[in-house]
Amino acid sequence: MNFPHIYYGGDYNPEQWGPETWEEDARLMQEAGVNLVSLGVFSWSKIEPEAGRYNFSWLDHVMDLLHKHGVSINLATPTASPPPWLVLSNPEILPVTIDGKKLWYGSRRHYCPHSPAFHERAKLLVTKLAEHVRGHPALTLWHVDNELACHISECFCDVSIGQFRAWLQQRYESLDKLNEAWGTNFWSQHYSQWEEVTAPLRTPASVNPSQHLDWLRFCSDSWVDVFTEQKKILKTITPDIPVTTNFMGFFKPLDYWTLAAQEDVVSNDSYPDPSDPDWMIYSGMMCDLVRSLRNGEPWLLMEQAPAQVNWRARNATKRPGIMRLGSYQALGRGGNGIMFFQWRASQSGSEKFHSAMLPHAGPASRTWREVKVLGTELGKLDALLSSRVRSEVGILFDWHNWWALEQSDKPSNELRLLPQLKALYAEFFRRNIPVDFIQAEADLSPYKLIVAPHLYLTSKAAGANIERYVAGGGTLFMTYFSGIVDRNDRVLLGGYPAAFRRTLGLWIEEFVVYMQSQSNTVITFDEQLYNCSQWSDIIHLEGAEALGHYQDDFFAGEPAVTRHQFGRGFSYYLGTELAPEGLSWLYDRICIDANVRPALSAPPRVEVTCRTDGAHTWLFALNHSDAHVNVRLPSQGVDLFSGASVNTLEMEPKGVAVIQLEGQV
Ligand code: GLA
Repeated sequence: MNFPHIYYGGDYNPEQWGPETWEEDARLMQEAGVNLVSLGVFSWSKIEPEAGRYNFSWLDHVMDLLHKHGVSINLATPTASPPPWLVLSNPEILPVTIDGKKLWYGSRRHYCPHSPAFHERAKLLVTKLAEHVRGHPALTLWHVDNELACHISECFCDVSIGQFRAWLQQRYESLDKLNEAWGTNFWSQHYSQWEEVTAPLRTPASVNPSQHLDWLRFCSDSWVDVFTEQKKILKTITPDIPVTTNFMGFFKPLDYWTLAAQEDVVSNDSYPDPSDPDWMIYSGMMCDLVRSLRNGEPWLLMEQAPAQVNWRARNATKRPGIMRLGSYQALGRGGNGIMFFQWRASQSGSEKFHSAMLPHAGPASRTWREVKVLGTELGKLDALLSSRVRSEVGILFDWHNWWALEQSDKPSNELRLLPQLKALYAEFFRRNIPVDFIQAEADLSPYKLIVAPHLYLTSKAAGANIERYVAGGGTLFMTYFSGIVDRNDRVLLGGYPAAFRRTLGLWIEEFVVYMQSQSNTVITFDEQLYNCSQWSDIIHLEGAEALGHYQDDFFAGEPAVTRHQFGRGFSYYLGTELAPEGLSWLYDRICIDANVRPALSAPPRVEVTCRTDGAHTWLFALNHSDAHVNVRLPSQGVDLFSGASVNTLEMEPKGVAVIQLEGQV
C-alpha cells in the first residue's frame, strides 16, 4: 500500500447523527489534521434497510463532504452486524454456542461464518457497495468487516459441523489418516465412517486434543475465508484500492500469519490498560507483532482509545501525554497511520461512554486539545513514510503452537504462552533492543538471535531450519517444554526435545512441576543465586555446558541453564522459570554472544526505537517516566518538532522526541 501521508483519523459513524452534525464533523476534522476516516463499519441496516433495497444517498453525501474537506475514506464492508430483517428471514445465520444456544441480534457480530445465507447476503451487499462507490476520489482503503472472530470465534451449528467434516476430508483424504493423526485408538475413539466425526462438543472428560486442535484450525480458516471472499469481490470491482481488516494483536482464535498474507496492508486495534504501569511493554509487543506479520511493511494503528474505554470493570483514562506516547510508540515501531475509535462520542448505545476524539463536551475538552496537537505534529513527519524498523532479534511465534500448548492435560495446566512471552519480551523492551516476531520455518538468516519461547508444537522442517540457523552462526535461546509434539499433537519420541536435541546438545528425561508454594534456586557458574519456580526439566548434557545448576530437591546439582556451541553458533536452553533478575543475568550473556545491543544507552523507562531508509535514521525517544531526563544521541540530529539541531535530548516527564539522524545508527 502506498502511503502519501502519515494517516490520522478514526472510526466515523455519521449514521448516528444528522446532516447538520456532518458539516461540523468535516470542519472539525480539518481543524484536527484528520486525513483518513473509517466509514460505515456498522452501517448494514442503514445501507440495506430491507432485503434488496439499498440506500446510498446518505453515504454519497458524507463521502462528498469528506472529500471536499481533504479527508480520505477507509470504507468498511458493514457485515459485522447483520440487520434484524436478515435474522427474521434466515434465523439460521445466528451463531450457536457449544451448549447449543443461539446468540441473538440486538448487539453485533451475531453471525455464523459458515452460514450460506449470511454469505449470499454479504456478497450481494459488498458487490452493490463497491459498484456504487467505485471511482469516488476519496476512496482510499477497504476495511473488511470488523475485528473478525471477536466476541464469538466458533459456531457449533449443524452447518458448521458439516463444514468441519468436509475440511477434515480435504486435509486427511482418508479416515485411516485421520484416525492415525488423532490417535483414536486411545479411549476407543476410532472412526469407521465420516458421519461419526464431529466437532469437539461437550464430553464427560477431556476431548481428544488433536481433534480440538484441528477444530481451532478450521475455525481460524473459516474467518480467513470470510475475508478472502469479500476481498475477491472488492478487487474485481476496485482493483486499485488496497484491502485490510483490523486485527486485535495477540488474539488467540485467529492465525494472523495466514490472514495477513491475504491482506494488502495490516492494521491493528490496540487497547492497552492505562492503569497497568507497564502498559507500554505489552502495546510495544503488539506493534512488533503487527509489523512482523507482513515482513516489516508499514502498518496502520486502526483503533486506539483517545482516553478511556467502556468495557473494563473500571475504565482508567489515559492521563495527559499517554495517548501521545502510545501514538508515537506505534509510529516508532513501523506504523504509518494513527487512528482512533472513534471520531465523535455516541449519544446512544453501549459505547456512549467510550472516549472519542471529539468527546460529548465538544472542542472545549482536554482530549480534543491533545488530538489537535497530535494531528499538527504528525503533519510534519511525512519524511519517514518509507523508512523501516530493523531488528536483529526474532522471537518465534506461531498460533498452532499457542493453541496446542494451552489445551488441557499438560504437566502444568497453568503454563500460558502470553504471560511467558511478555516476560521474555520485556527484557528486550527494557534494553531497547528491537525485535521481530517470526515463524519457525521462515528464513531466520536476517537475525543474530532467535528466541523460541515454549515451542511445544513443532515440525521436522522447523527443527532442521533452526539447526541450520545455529550451525551457520546464529544464536538460539529456547525455553522449557519446547520440541515436544508434532503438528498433530503427537509426542516426538526418543528423548525430549527430539527436534532440537542435537542443536541444544542435551536431552530431557522428565519434567518436575512445582506447586504454588514451592520454588528452587539456580546457582550460576559465577556464583549468583536466582530463585526459580513453576517447572524444572531434568536435563542430561550431550555436548552442552551448564551455566547454572539446581540447588535443591532430588535433582540438586543437575543443570538448569545450558549453553551449547553448535557449528558456528550457540544455543542456550532454560529448563526452568527464572525470577526476573535471573533472566536479566542470562540475557546479559546471550546478548553478548549474539552481539545485539541498543542504538544508545537510555535512562530507565525511556523507550528508544529507530526507523531507517538507509540514508537517514529517525530516532523515537519516549519518556514513560515521571522524571526530567537527558538522553545523549549517538550523533547530532534534527528535532523534527522544533527544527533545532541537538546532541542531547532534554526530556520532560511523558515527553516525546523524534530526531532525524544522518545514515544508519
Ligand atoms: C473494538 C471495535 C470498535 C469498538 C472498540 C471499543 O476495537 O472494533 O468497534 O467497539 O472496540 O473499544
